Amino acid sequence: MRHRLGLSARRGMAKIGILTGGGDCPGLNAAIRAIVRKGTEHYGHALLGFRNGYQGVLDGNALELTPGSARGILHRGGTILGTSRVNPFRVEGGVDLVKQTLRSSEIDGLIVIGGEGTLRCAAKLATEGLNIVGVPKTIDNDLAGTDYTFGFDTAVQIATDAIDRLHTTAESHNRVMVLEVMGRHAGWIGLHSGLAGGADVILIPEHPFDIADVCDHIEHRHATGHFFSIVVVSEGALPVAGTLDLPRYERDEFGRERLGGISNVIAAEVERRTGFETRVTILGHVQRGGTPTAYDRVLATRYGVAAIDLASKGQWGRMTSLRGGGIVDVPLDEAVSELKKVPEDLYRVAEVFFG
Ligand code: F6P
Repeated sequence: MRHRLGLSARRGMAKIGILTGGGDCPGLNAAIRAIVRKGTEHYGHALLGFRNGYQGVLDGNALELTPGSARGILHRGGTILGTSRVNPFRVEGGVDLVKQTLRSSEIDGLIVIGGEGTLRCAAKLATEGLNIVGVPKTIDNDLAGTDYTFGFDTAVQIATDAIDRLHTTAESHNRVMVLEVMGRHAGWIGLHSGLAGGADVILIPEHPFDIADVCDHIEHRHATGHFFSIVVVSEGALPVAGTLDLPRYERDEFGRERLGGISNVIAAEVERRTGFETRVTILGHVQRGGTPTAYDRVLATRYGVAAIDLASKGQWGRMTSLRGGGIVDVPLDEAVSELKKVPEDLYRVAEVFFG
């Protein structure tokens, strides 16, 4: 049911909007719950949840969020608000529509829970004079302004479980198993799950790979009595120029390449060059769905509480952030100014276990 916009906040209290944008991830509901519970019960604010990311703001499609609507969702994956990759800056008159909706619904400020794309858009809206607080989420963990985004820990755990399962079947059949995980520009999921699962080769976007080196590692294992191998590859991994042809990717409605399938190319080449039977598993959206880990529930909850505190103090243009175990806030525009890539020294740690 569409919410009748224009409900005024209780006197002295604020009216705060919330949206979740971009790809979903485990922990979004924990963050919503925290914002709603502290926002209503502690501050007495009215909370309005926009449906399907910025699309809901463009359409004025929202629902009132009460402690009741935020109950029973802590452990649930996905987002009760829905999400989309809609960007108001790419919609004709979109920014004016956003301003109009927030004005007509008497919203004092908007808490935007998103990854890099959604928060970059939020930072631009803040420069347009809107009152925005950002909360960082994404399984990719590639936001520069924070040590960890929520969703990442769950995705790494799912990918690690998959590697453990692939290990036993790889060993039984003397096969090479190539596991493809998400990670468009940064290889955090591949690196962490590969380390945790004991992968024999990890390929991430930050380090262009040579398929000849991959085959050398696998052949070395066979030569030393290990007749199976696990290769973990990020969907956005890149071969050294001229060494391997990538699949042709279609584009989604927002112009982004729909990644997925590089593991097929790698597996075919490994099998051709080494003669070892090689199989592929593409984890896909399994790693983004379902129950958040305890770590992600706690992180999302801490971010949610910090976000409503910032909004209540009128500290706009900030993003909640984890720094060395503590929750702080950082300028939103700085947080989205660059992507957080896997550092060289961490990849060097993983390389110790290759081959
Ligand atoms: O949320 C980021 C991400 O997980 C990327 O790693 C991946 O490329 C993308 O989402 C997939 O998005 P969609 O579900 O929209 O295809």
